[in-house]
Amino acid sequence: MKAREILGLSKIIPVITIEDVSLSVDLAKALMDGGAKVLEITLRTKEALKAIESISKELPELVVGAGTILNAHQLELAIKAGAKFGISPGLNTIFATALKKFNLPFIPGIASAGELMLALEFGFDTLKFFPAQAAGGVNMLKSFSGPFKDIKFCPTGGISIDNMKEYLKLDNVICIGGSWLTPKELVLRKEWQKISQLTSQSLKLTKNL
Ligand code: 3PG
Repeated sequence: MKAREILGLSKIIPVITIEDVSLSVDLAKALMDGGAKVLEITLRTKEALKAIESISKELPELVVGAGTILNAHQLELAIKAGAKFGISPGLNTIFATALKKFNLPFIPGIASAGELMLALEFGFDTLKFFPAQAAGGVNMLKSFSGPFKDIKFCPTGGISIDNMKEYLKLDNVICIGGSWLTPKELVLRKEWQKISQLTSQSLKLTKNL
């Protein structure tokens, strides 16, 4: 599947940072029960790779990707763990060149017109816009739609149930991502039903957008 097809599977992608791998499958199941189809597990904890492996094995119907990939080595490890796609917070020439060796659908992050042009140079047409709220939010994406009309974005960073609709209304936004579906306290207390509810409530609001 191409990056754009993967992001087209669902309007919201939960962005998850796993602190305790023993909770990872239950957490993923709760998100799936709420309607999530695609997950991004950030490589920000040492548990992340193991979580990608466990979730991919136990819940094969979910499309599990690895986020916060900062270099080719991390990408290699993520592929070995079973990630179906990769996401990075930014892009530079060294990383973009290294990415060419891999066959994994990849969504690089950009926050400026210059980075976007670099991504285009390397053949990417589906990008993460990060950190969305801090880097200009909806207005920035509206501005990108003029010169870069064929590019589609998945904005993340500062997005929540309160502002997600503004993003999803834009023609150049294919989906949004965020961590608001997996609040730390709910995960620690294993409040899986509440997480499912939060997910289904959020997804419901994206209907007809
Ligand atoms: C990401 O990596 O996409 C962000 O950290 C998610 O941002 P959020 O925590 O503000 O939702």
